[in-house]
Amino acid sequence: MPALLSIRDLEISFRQGKRLMPAVSGVSFDVNAGEIVSLVGESGSGKSVTALSVLGLLSRQGKVQGGQILFDGKNLAALSETELDRIRGKEIAMIFQDIMYSLNPVFTIGSQLTEGMRRHLGVSGEEAWREGKRLLSRTGIRDAEQVMKKYPHMLSGGMRQRVMIAMALSCKPRLLIADEPTTALDVTIQYQIIQLLKSLRDEEGMAVLLITHDIGVVAEIADRVVVMYAGQCVEEADAETLLSRPAHPYTRALMRAVPGLHDDRSVLLYAIPGRVPEQYGLMTGCRFAPRCPWGENCPDKEKDRLISPAPGRLCRCPRALGGEDHA
Ligand SMILES: Nc1ncnc2c1ncn2[C@@H]1O[C@H](COP(=O)(O)OP(=O)(O)OP(=O)(O)O)[C@@H](O)[C@H]1O
Ligand SMILES: [Mg+2]
Repeated sequence: MPALLSIRDLEISFRQGKRLMPAVSGVSFDVNAGEIVSLVGESGSGKSVTALSVLGLLSRQGKVQGGQILFDGKNLAALSETELDRIRGKEIAMIFQDIMYSLNPVFTIGSQLTEGMRRHLGVSGEEAWREGKRLLSRTGIRDAEQVMKKYPHMLSGGMRQRVMIAMALSCKPRLLIADEPTTALDVTIQYQIIQLLKSLRDEEGMAVLLITHDIGVVAEIADRVVVMYAGQCVEEADAETLLSRPAHPYTRALMRAVPGLHDDRSVLLYAIPGRVPEQYGLMTGCRFAPRCPWGENCPDKEKDRLISPAPGRLCRCPRALGGEDHA
């Protein structure tokens, strides 16, 4: 069966003054119905830009320069604004990383939460209100009826984040794109949201593209993981393989940088040296080379393509796949 979402050779650039700076280069991955795919990578690696492009929501300076974004076989990158509007919220819903911009300050939570259901599903106001309350409760909000009557500024950041999650789920989307949906939540609520997403995957076959920095969340929920670095995919595998046997030096460094509950606190946590290069879109060859333990002298540093050592697995580093260990 073809994937529900299939991103193929995606190229995104941003206008900076007179020139176009590539932000995402040749990114490809699939999300199947009933599957949770996690997109991970350091800040500035192109995760949000990739997600925003699916719904045509890049800022004015941003542009999809190439590739396809196939949803149910339709290339979203070629649709008009009106056509995309029919898909947004209903077929594909998104939880934005920046929640401050996602709720309208002058309308109550109830009116914002019920709007999509009335518009897209044609349900009555009363029915939408009941469903809104039910969804809020499922995200762990206790006094849902009261919260429905409040304005966004009257809620804490964590409450607003849960309202956004309820809103995204309200039209029963086939695909949910969630950009850091649990960052403002404490661990118990985070656990509840993870369980909610899992049950929607299992019961409704909802697909999820989940962007997160939290490897604990990935371990808990993801079926497959795509690792991005400097605007490219560097590794992809099923979650278990990726977490237990990461191959690419960047993925391995990411895993080493995850704090563990029982770590010796007198030992400093590993930090990946350096940072994502600023104008990475202009680099040739391996973009991780300046930070890689194998260093700038790596003989494979000019080889810049994804290799598939096994079905469902991709890695951009031939040396890692050769079985050599750098750690
Ligand atoms: N509005 C913009 N104008 C110009 N360049 C942008 C814009 N938004 C993103 N970019 C470029 O795209 C790159 C990727 O940004 P993106 O927001 O996708 O990163 P991210 O992986 O989501 O990071 P984070 O984990 O911090 O959310 C940035 O490094 C920046 O160069
Ligand atoms: Mg982001």
